[in-house]
Amino acid sequence: MKLFLDTANLQEIKDVVSWGILDGVTTNPTLCSKENIPFEDLVKQICRLVPGPVSVECVSTKAEDIVAEARKLSLLAPNVVIKIPINIEGLKATKILSAEGIKVNMTLIFSPSQALLAAKAGAAYVSPFIGRLDDISHHGMELVEEIVTIFENYNLEAEVIVASVRHPGHVVEAALLGAHITTMPYSVMEKLVRHPLTDIGIERFLQDWQKVTHK
Ligand code: E4P
Repeated sequence: MKLFLDTANLQEIKDVVSWGILDGVTTNPTLCSKENIPFEDLVKQICRLVPGPVSVECVSTKAEDIVAEARKLSLLAPNVVIKIPINIEGLKATKILSAEGIKVNMTLIFSPSQALLAAKAGAAYVSPFIGRLDDISHHGMELVEEIVTIFENYNLEAEVIVASVRHPGHVVEAALLGAHITTMPYSVMEKLVRHPLTDIGIERFLQDWQKVTHK
């Protein structure tokens, strides 16, 4: 499964790139609003750092405006993917953009029918928001399971990005379900690597190494 960071923070991205496991980045207007860097500069800098796709969200609401905004954003860097919220205007725009070879990540997916329509419109990625469903007492991972099954049933090419991830358990469940990608905050990425028994084990090996005799 590919691992994406869900952030617009350059330091977080640099850090995880240095671990050698980062496959891509997703941003959204909320994440970009936290960085004090002009939007287009920010996108260019993120795209230079990331060895993979970088999702950048459109804020226009009419199909023709979304298409114009997406064309402009896609010129910022070769690895820009256009994020478009799912609705009828978003579907119309996705159809046009995908036909032009511009990759679309359909976002704010909360039902399997939305994911099916997004894939049929030509989206390269669909992003079900798991944590926000869990927040209202639904089972976000059931949505992932349904989407993965539907895409497999019909050999749909769109990749499933499990989004709105809150903890490492979400990442493992996504991998077990066969989702293509999980995008997560830096805090979750960091937790993926840690285990208290590993820390205790390293500590003990280092202590015992002091007792080893050398020539
Ligand atoms: C995904 O692409 C979104 O940016 C993100 O996962 C939203 O997560 P949130 O529900 O934590 O805001």
